[in-house]
Amino acid sequence: GRVAVLMGGTSSEREVSLDSGRNCLEALQRRGVDAQAVDGIPALVQALVAKRFDRVFNILHGHHGGGEDGILQGLLDALQVPYTGSDVLGSALSMDKIRTKQVWLSLGMPTPRYVSLAKKSSDVEAAARSLGLPVIVKPACEGSSVGVSRVFSEADLPSAVALAERYEGDLLMEQMIVGEEYTVGILGAEALPTIRIVPAGEYYDYHAKYVAEDTQYICPGLSGAAENEMRALALKAFQAAGCGGWGRVDVMRDRGGANFLLEVNTAPGMTSHSLVPKAARAVGIEFDDLVWRVLETSLD
Ligand code: DAL
Ligand code: MG
Repeated sequence: GRVAVLMGGTSSEREVSLDSGRNCLEALQRRGVDAQAVDGIPALVQALVAKRFDRVFNILHGHHGGGEDGILQGLLDALQVPYTGSDVLGSALSMDKIRTKQVWLSLGMPTPRYVSLAKKSSDVEAAARSLGLPVIVKPACEGSSVGVSRVFSEADLPSAVALAERYEGDLLMEQMIVGEEYTVGILGAEALPTIRIVPAGEYYDYHAKYVAEDTQYICPGLSGAAENEMRALALKAFQAAGCGGWGRVDVMRDRGGANFLLEVNTAPGMTSHSLVPKAARAVGIEFDDLVWRVLETSLD
């Protein structure tokens, strides 16, 4: 059938999504799939009404304009159009980092201690004191580190909060885990090898994610029991959040070797800098095969 590769949209991650989308479109076309780019949900609705597509390869990132947050998934369920990746529940829950943590905590799964803050809250200093500096302040529902700050002193709290408040939804203030940063790609019912991310600067931010060429990626990031343990935790966390198909779970590991779950990405980046393609390659799944496997998640 004809595949709409849905990309772009109106979120803060529009440019990342266009990059991911073009790569996926080209991979599908190399495989002989009748695939076309569609930019954003309104254009998709028009194309579906005109019966131009039979299924959707969703590579929109973020929540404004739907895409990764359940709105698109509900629309496509109602229209009975198959799509890649997680359904309404997993998408909507994972877009909200605070509520994802609440689910994990209720199941006894490890995630950094946190405080949820409404915009214009007067409890910012108290929250930071209760967690202990340093903390991370983020908008609850953005991706690609947009709006995220690391805060080492109380004097830096107001600017961190002001930045995060520019985005929709509540703020998440999290205990900063000092240690190593990992991510675990999920493909079908399996966790791919872990990737350890070693940014050249201090922090794996938007620039280190998409622009810098000096971020190091070590895959597998761990070995032996520690590797298996993190993969198993990530898969369990993904499934606990109601997710399916494919995705990526971000994890911190402290100096004592304890794992802490950060968040789930239900439509992870597929740019040349992105992580799921690197993890897949480590187990012999080249980019075009990976994109094909993601398309297959729509065929259930
Ligand atoms: N939110 C970006 C696209 C990622 O998780 O890869
Ligand atoms: Mg994310």
